Amino acid sequence: MFVAGATGYTGQAVVSELRTRGLQTTAHVRPDSSALPRWTERFEGLGASVDTTAWELEAMTETIAALQPTVVFALLGTTRRRAASEGMDTKAGYERIDYGLSKLLLDACRGAAPQARFVYLSSLGVKEGTRNAYLAARARLERDLRESGQPYTVARPSFIAGPDRDEDRRAERAGAAVADAVLGAAGWLGAKRTRDRFQSMDAATLAAGLVRAALDPEARDAVLEADALRTT
Ligand SMILES: NC(=O)c1ccc[n+]([C@@H]2O[C@H](COP(=O)([O-])OP(=O)(O)OC[C@H]3O[C@@H](n4cnc5c(N)ncnc54)[C@H](OP(=O)(O)O)[C@@H]3O)[C@@H](O)[C@H]2O)c1
Repeated sequence: MFVAGATGYTGQAVVSELRTRGLQTTAHVRPDSSALPRWTERFEGLGASVDTTAWELEAMTETIAALQPTVVFALLGTTRRRAASEGMDTKAGYERIDYGLSKLLLDACRGAAPQARFVYLSSLGVKEGTRNAYLAARARLERDLRESGQPYTVARPSFIAGPDRDEDRRAERAGAAVADAVLGAAGWLGAKRTRDRFQSMDAATLAAGLVRAALDPEARDAVLEADALRTT
């Protein structure tokens, strides 16, 4: 198992879920991460290995060839604030990180592990022709995946939020709280599927669903929304 975006809210939970299941796991941390020692201690403490391959196609292809993972998780993404801190406007950030790094990883898999399941964390609301830059980056990667021949599972959750998220994301938290309140009422009124598709999920719940789907032969080449990702 190879986890790209392992240091993110979802990524940390996926590494933890994989190790709880006793699966051999490599957590990727970008080589220039200022918190590399902390991540190494954290992931090695869970029994995972840490890999710091540069985000370059040749290097990533060599790593994937050497590790031969059966599943590769692509859990990468930037935010307006983070892109700005790295000197990019938001649209360029989505293009370079959300699309670009995921595509690089897909190309590395195609070159070195064409049988590996590529589990891509996309988003609810993705559709062809969208004018929203965040959703467009995901629509493009989903299209590349469908055309790649690589086995894949696409996950499209709604808000990923929980009290255990370190980062302060006030807007997302507020959005999730409002959506959850409205949807709680919808569920109460009988619109259970709607509630389960749109209500927020914490990282542990999402990670359990992602890992379950990654190992499920029936989820090969499938697109799963939050209702299908929730474990019961
Ligand atoms: N949050 C939501 O409500 C939500 C909803 C639906 C879909 N999604 C999508 O799901 C994915 C994961 O979400 P999340 O909330 O778990 O994300 P997150 O906590 O923000 O983690 C993002 C990951 O991407 C990596 N990353 C960001 N910029 C990078 C760069 N310049 N170079 C290399 N790596 C970089 C981060 O590494 P560092 O730690 O090294 O920065 C981190 O591992 C994202 O694509 C997100 O857009 C999110």
